Amino acid sequence: MALAEGLISAGACKANDIIITRRTISSLSKMADQGFHTDTDNAKAIENADAVFICVLPQQLDEALSQLKPAINLEKQLVVSVVTGAHTQVFRDVFGDKLRIVRAMPNTAMRVRESMTCLSPVNATEEDVLLVQHIFDTMGQCILINEDMMSAATALCACGIAFFLRTIRAASQGGVEIGFHAHDALKIASQTAFGAAKLLIANKTHPEEEIDKVTSPKGCTIAGLNEMEHQGLSSALIKGIKLSSNIANNLYKQS
Ligand SMILES: NC(=O)c1ccc[n+]([C@@H]2O[C@H](COP(=O)([O-])OP(=O)(O)OC[C@H]3O[C@@H](n4cnc5c(N)ncnc54)[C@H](OP(=O)(O)O)[C@@H]3O)[C@@H](O)[C@H]2O)c1
Repeated sequence: MALAEGLISAGACKANDIIITRRTISSLSKMADQGFHTDTDNAKAIENADAVFICVLPQQLDEALSQLKPAINLEKQLVVSVVTGAHTQVFRDVFGDKLRIVRAMPNTAMRVRESMTCLSPVNATEEDVLLVQHIFDTMGQCILINEDMMSAATALCACGIAFFLRTIRAASQGGVEIGFHAHDALKIASQTAFGAAKLLIANKTHPEEEIDKVTSPKGCTIAGLNEMEHQGLSSALIKGIKLSSNIANNLYKQS
């Protein structure tokens, strides 16, 4: 849904250019109200499609592929998969080796056009890659990576949103403990995190360079920062990212 809404808010296409399927049509009533075509029949839905986006959970993939297989048109259609942990070989085994496919790993910031998306094309034409890059560029930024980096991209990019959100929540909880009302603490923490990210992106600097600018000798920032490191801040993030990457790699199991 975030992908479809991102496409529209970015002006990449109109709602009535998109057919969204789910197994329960009632779950799509809000999308239908927004002008999207909705259906439960995957084969029928892709009949006239140029591109087929597969956005199911890993454990739902086999069923979706078996529904799409009789209808897929390999000459015409490009497949874009956001399914975590499902290697493109899984799709090629079902649809055949002529399949043109791009694996995409976006994050939910697509909704506000600030996603980071990693793309791995396999057997896709230059035109396909440009099209998919254009689509995801309108919803943030994207880079091309080798498919063997997809699990790492899942951890850093898709799971990454949750990691940073949790750090913002923790900062705002700290803010409440030192005297702010919860809504003010959250606003201050969110905007400060946004500003930190923007400094790195705008200045193309390393985080430590920006940290040096705000840590005066014997000051309060370095004291707080060092205490966080004594408590394992960087180590906890690194270990969490490694664990997520390992789990992402094993999420899809063929039935
Ligand atoms: N959320 C993220 O930030 C994010 C980022 C990158 C990648 N991903 C990956 O993207 C995939 C989707 O994630 P999600 O968070 O959107 O999961 P989700 O909310 O559970 O969405 C899965 C959707 O697939 C539908 N579905 C399942 N089987 C179907 C079928 N045979 N035909 C049509 N629709 C079917 C489900 O609807 P019904 O149950 O009504 O059929 C549901 O709407 C996952 O593989 C996830 O790992 C997610």
